[in-house]
Amino acid sequence: MCGIVGYVGSQSALEVVLAGLRRLEYRGYDSAGIAVLADGGLAAARKAGKLVNLEKELAARPLPTGTTGIGHTRWATHGGPTDANAHPHLDNAGRVAVVHNGIIENFAVLRAELAERGHELFSETDTEVVAHLLAEEFSVTADLAEAMRLVCRRLEGAFTLVAAHADEPDVVVGARRNSPLVVGVGEGEAFLASDVAAFIAHTRSAIELGQDQVVELRRDGVTVTGFDGSPADVRSYHVDWDASAAEKGGYDYFMLKEIAEQPKAVADTLLGRIDASGALSLDEVRIPASELREVDKVVIVACGTAFHAGLIAKYAIEHWTRIPCEVELASEFRYRDPILDSRSLVIAISQSGETMDTLMALRHAREQGSKVLAICNTNGSTIPRESDAVLYTHAGPEVAVASTKAFLTQLVACYLVALYLGQVRGTKWGDEIRAVIRDLAQISGAVERVLETMGPVRELARSLAHKDTVLFLGRHVGYPVALEGALKLKELAYMHAEGFAAGELKHGPIALIEEDLPVVVVVPSPRGRSVLHDKIVSNIQEIRARGARTIVIAEEGDETVVPYADHLVRIPVTPVLLSPLVATVPLQVFACELATARGNEVDQPRNLAKSVTVE
Ligand code: AGP
Repeated sequence: MCGIVGYVGSQSALEVVLAGLRRLEYRGYDSAGIAVLADGGLAAARKAGKLVNLEKELAARPLPTGTTGIGHTRWATHGGPTDANAHPHLDNAGRVAVVHNGIIENFAVLRAELAERGHELFSETDTEVVAHLLAEEFSVTADLAEAMRLVCRRLEGAFTLVAAHADEPDVVVGARRNSPLVVGVGEGEAFLASDVAAFIAHTRSAIELGQDQVVELRRDGVTVTGFDGSPADVRSYHVDWDASAAEKGGYDYFMLKEIAEQPKAVADTLLGRIDASGALSLDEVRIPASELREVDKVVIVACGTAFHAGLIAKYAIEHWTRIPCEVELASEFRYRDPILDSRSLVIAISQSGETMDTLMALRHAREQGSKVLAICNTNGSTIPRESDAVLYTHAGPEVAVASTKAFLTQLVACYLVALYLGQVRGTKWGDEIRAVIRDLAQISGAVERVLETMGPVRELARSLAHKDTVLFLGRHVGYPVALEGALKLKELAYMHAEGFAAGELKHGPIALIEEDLPVVVVVPSPRGRSVLHDKIVSNIQEIRARGARTIVIAEEGDETVVPYADHLVRIPVTPVLLSPLVATVPLQVFACELATARGNEVDQPRNLAKSVTVE
């Protein structure tokens, strides 16, 4: 969950690395630093706080000009966000610099051994031990890549490391275990980064690094080996995200841009998945149909917003395939000793593809012999690489920490997987599948229409900016939507927000209702199960009778709710199971606007990181 950039080439390393760090600042922003090789030496600068603090430092005390450099934006794990703990970390001679993402679990033992050998360490971090270990190994090998391989074999835990040594001015070396690192290959230059956003302005030719690999960057190319020095097979791929996709595109926040991109993201996620006959062809799902036909249980593992997508997917999977489907918080999953075997299909949903809780859950599932299908938004990331199959969402880079377009595309991908299971198992006929695909194809326009009517929602959000609490109610697929709406408000407005199944009100939560308390109610379509609709209308009456301010999300034409809605937000008529794709959007806009009204930093909320790569 830190941003890492490395560069070797003929451009100014300072400029290239800083520009890359700006693109990665969402990955961690409590300190930043850079090191440049120049004039036979190594120069470094680092500052606590956001990247702008480092830029001010560099303006005041410029580094020498060089064409090899590394940089880092940090999200603290070991040691607080201070100048001393900021990366890069150097050895005592100041000849080697290293930046790191992850956790080195045996750093205390290594630190003690280094101290016994006379090394002085000045930070509280686990990373600093690596700088000293590299210096020791380099003094023997005089080869940074070999030194890195030797050091990595001594480290335990999860790490991405990128290092440079003053004695090798045209080399940058990287290594990865359980943490993201991608290589960009340009003309006479090469890049290393936590994700492709850092270098797509320069090159779209990328290489994904595998587990326990070391990469050596030189101007004329890259060399990849295992930690044992054996040559490694690598897969090159073309990055199809435009540079502008990582910019804000005229919006104040990435989140606003990404909310607005949802119609396209939903449409893009459907692209290329339906063949000429109208049947589903999910070519990345490399689990043979024969094995999918044997599946007798689906288990979805995910965190946060992705978990809410899984909760909605459960309704579709069970309804369309009649396969039992469990949805588990990834952080709880393996500790409850789940019952899994070769007939269990585990679906790991993750936008970043690097969430450690989800990664460890899928590893546990595979150890039990289950097949794992990843639903992921980040090509080449660890979770899809460690899964048996993947269905990539096509949301494009999601920079804002609060997940929006990734969530909608996760839902689309989940519907596609559910339909695909129905197709290969014969529980859905071709015409039934095509009918749902046609409905899905309408969602992009439906979301566009919702976005065009959000003025009153923004106005309502601003009027509630002073409130301490907002509750969210829903039934059926509207219940996970209520949970997602509450999460958005928590993580953006830093206020108490809680989602409930509306049927649970009478079992306790109704005691929370008081005068003028805002309660958002996600109303199921009356065209689905009318009993659900009738019951939630009763729920709205119950809370209103106790003074709640009711904010009702209901589909066009549903007049029953009008007398009980203090604020009515209309959404287009959509099939019941697909309704979360439109019902969620007003809740995203509501949370973003309320947070903005409170003056919060919307794209990088306090205490949060976009990719949580530690357990
Ligand atoms: C949601 O807005 C948050 N960003 C967070 O809950 C996120 O969904 C969760 O950390 C899972 O991340 P992933 O999808 O990258 O695995």
